[in-house]
Amino acid sequence: MANFIFRVLLILVFSYLCNRVTGKANFKEIDEKLKQLNKPAVKTIQGEDGDIIDCVDIYKQPAFDHPALKNHIIQMKPSFDLKEEKLSLKNESTKLTVFQTWQRSGSCPEGTVPIRRIRREDLLRAKSVQQFGRKPPEVVLKSNTTIEHKDGQLPSINTTALAMPVIVNRSAATLVTVGYNYIGAKADINVWTPNVEAQDEYTTAQIWLKAGPGDNFESIESGWIVNPQLYGDKRTRLFAHWTKDSYKTTGCFDMTCSGFVQTSSQYLLGGSIEPVSTEFGQQYYLTVGIYMDPNTANWWLKIGKDIPVGYWPASTLLFYLNHSSTLVEWGGQVYSSNVKKKPHTKTGMGSGQFASGLRGNACSMDNIAIVDFSMQLKYPQWVGTWADEQYCYTALNYQEGYGKLPIFYFGGPGQNYNCP
Ligand SMILES: *[C@@H]1O[C@H](CO)[C@@H](O)[C@H](O)[C@H]1NC(C)=O
Ligand SMILES: *[C@@H]1O[C@H](CO)[C@@H](O)[C@H](O)[C@H]1NC(C)=O
Ligand SMILES: *[C@@H]1O[C@H](CO)[C@@H](O)[C@H](O)[C@H]1NC(C)=O
Ligand SMILES: *[C@@H]1O[C@H](CO)[C@@H](O)[C@H](O)[C@H]1NC(C)=O
Ligand SMILES: *[C@@H]1O[C@H](CO)[C@@H](O)[C@H](O)[C@H]1NC(C)=O
Repeated sequence: MANFIFRVLLILVFSYLCNRVTGKANFKEIDEKLKQLNKPAVKTIQGEDGDIIDCVDIYKQPAFDHPALKNHIIQMKPSFDLKEEKLSLKNESTKLTVFQTWQRSGSCPEGTVPIRRIRREDLLRAKSVQQFGRKPPEVVLKSNTTIEHKDGQLPSINTTALAMPVIVNRSAATLVTVGYNYIGAKADINVWTPNVEAQDEYTTAQIWLKAGPGDNFESIESGWIVNPQLYGDKRTRLFAHWTKDSYKTTGCFDMTCSGFVQTSSQYLLGGSIEPVSTEFGQQYYLTVGIYMDPNTANWWLKIGKDIPVGYWPASTLLFYLNHSSTLVEWGGQVYSSNVKKKPHTKTGMGSGQFASGLRGNACSMDNIAIVDFSMQLKYPQWVGTWADEQYCYTALNYQEGYGKLPIFYFGGPGQNYNCP
């Protein structure tokens, strides 16, 4: 009798588990998706962080799954050089940079690119198989403010007047520049691991280059992210994202959906980075640069000491960014359904400390620069800071002394006494 009850229970539990899983996505759908996502590997590396890295033939990478890139000819390296303005103002001294965890376990051969293998459990965590690896669409509430235009002049940046729309489920603290055509942007991004409260929330420190209409913009982005739903842990990871329709149907954080053409065998999009900075301890940085090659309209991603990782082929994938970007932002963003409401999420941005904490306490971005058609890296002529929720996450552009470039600080803890 006891045995019979036990078996009934077992069946009940089993069918419950099956329903729970198939309620999200069925196994057949998942297996098909896995087959489509994971490319045959020339070599496989097991990372210490649990990631499996497949070294995939550069001509078999996911980019070639994109209908517009079927016959794409890979540009093996950028064809431009950037000049640096105001070099004397820069402090290159002894900045410590991060490496990627998987690099300790091996390297990919020339002619291959490292791709993080997607596993069944990764897809089971996703909201849906279709949504896997992607940013949720950006839903904008009508904003009551507009950019101020002075007669015949460039728009003046006035943070109280700048049109920063109210965006659902997202809270950002950024440094913004508009008013010119930008074909590049760069920063040394301080690396931390902020708290992420719920599995379906994420937090980033990144650069955005955008163009196009507000409700359907194009954007290319890179920086670091903590995203437990996507990666299954709370490590800080390198990401590179793009979209041509404000995240509605296009773009991913890594190589999961086709679009980004990788050329480097050294960097793993979605791969964890270390070490991370500690409060008033050693500070670590990830240098990120995104530059359009004027000869090909390919937007190159460069990491660290100017190492080209790959590019977004704007001439086939993008329309507005095929020419230039018209808005550049540096800073952080928290994605959560509990922002802009009470109780507020406890997911942190940056270091989890407010911008006023400055060096060693708050997350910083140094050596901020844009590139215009003169192909020079320079500090933007107009900047403004923006924080969606000033009591939860802050933004501060801080100049330490005369003749020094401002350093941008941003972040916060989310929920706190002033942000209940
Ligand atoms: C450069 O940075 C180092 C370490 O942060 C500091 O000690 C030094 O004074 C800085 N130099 C200049 C010229 O700002
Ligand atoms: C815009 O103004 C209207 C009317 O004054 C107000 O009801 C609405 O909440 C405002 N929207 C935003 C996003 O501030
Ligand atoms: C910024 O815009 C607001 C609202 O239009 C205005 O009241 C304020 O004086 C402006 N500030 C500056 C520095 O121009
Ligand atoms: C990008 O610009 C080039 C040259 O102006 C043009 O030939 C191409 O069709 C454009 N691509 C898109 C997607 O608009
Ligand atoms: C905000 O997040 C909640 C919870 O995940 C979701 O149900 C809702 O659709 C999201 N809203 C928008 C506009 O994305």
